[in-house]
Amino acid sequence: MTQQLTIRRPDDWHVHLRDGAVLQGVLPHTARQFARAIVMPNLSPPMTDCAGVAAYRQRIEAALPAGMDFTPLMTLYLTDATDPDEVARGFAEGVFVAAKLYPAHATTGSAHGVTDVANIRAVLERMAAIGMPLLVHGEVTDAHVDIFDREAVFIERTLAPLVRELPELKVVFEHVTTEEAVRFVEGSGPNVAATITPQHLHINRNAMLVGGIRPHMFCLPVAKREKHRLALRAAATSGSAKFFLGTDSAPHAVGAKESACGCAGIFNAPFALESYVAVFEEEGALDRFEAFASLNGPAFYGLPVNEAKVTLEKVAVAVPDQIDANGTQIVPFHAGESLSWRFAG
Ligand code: DOR
Ligand code: ZN
Repeated sequence: MTQQLTIRRPDDWHVHLRDGAVLQGVLPHTARQFARAIVMPNLSPPMTDCAGVAAYRQRIEAALPAGMDFTPLMTLYLTDATDPDEVARGFAEGVFVAAKLYPAHATTGSAHGVTDVANIRAVLERMAAIGMPLLVHGEVTDAHVDIFDREAVFIERTLAPLVRELPELKVVFEHVTTEEAVRFVEGSGPNVAATITPQHLHINRNAMLVGGIRPHMFCLPVAKREKHRLALRAAATSGSAKFFLGTDSAPHAVGAKESACGCAGIFNAPFALESYVAVFEEEGALDRFEAFASLNGPAFYGLPVNEAKVTLEKVAVAVPDQIDANGTQIVPFHAGESLSWRFAG
């Protein structure tokens, strides 16, 4: 008999859906598997006010194929100039559910990000007062800090002081990639949680660099040493309510990845659940997959869990070499591999 796993329909607590033609091409992949997703605001130009975020939400809803059941949860892009009143108004009116902190120049689409968290202190205090989550890209951008150390240094310099000074602020440490981040989240109070991507559970930095440079394994924060991957796998499968699913699916056209200066980002949406469940099976933790994928995120965000169910079957699926996203060719995570679980709907 086919082995099956049925769980409440999951949500993706961190995704890049892009805009325009590519949005139309990538959105069905996320909407097929997830009931809701936290949509990143790092478009060009970034989504820095209520009107822009509301219009982007309408474009996402318009791009959703008929019959698909999916709710985008929108986010605001913080800049040095963000107005605390605009943040509070958009949160109260349900325009967005969280705000994203990109340190300026840390990653794709972060040029308008925050140059120093001191500059958004009034915004953060207001968010703490109204219970609005802060979503953090946790890397320093100091040229003197090695790229593999940027997350750990961010904890020391920025995140630990912030959490100490504003303990009421709800913080999601996004796409954690290090043992240091896991320990920090575990050692913090209930207002601090983290998302974990499929790629950081599957690959270490060798996948990017051994045998040739492999741009489709490059994302930010960059994959680290094996000991960090093992710490992330232990955290994700531990049953702790502090860790939940966030794919960070970040599509880029194949030519933008395979370039002298390739973009950061891994497109994992098409086989996201298949990728995650493989890790839980390997770790002997299939019984904890539902908490990670479908329960911990809503609990942290204060949202109801989904009532619908989805089923994964132990049937092999072949991941294609490329996916046509409405005219843009994109290489998915696990391209050319066979995965042992299939999303059955
Ligand atoms: O690899 C990444 N890609 N990391 C990010 O933080 C941004 C993302 C993107 O938008 O492409
Ligand atoms: Zn991201």
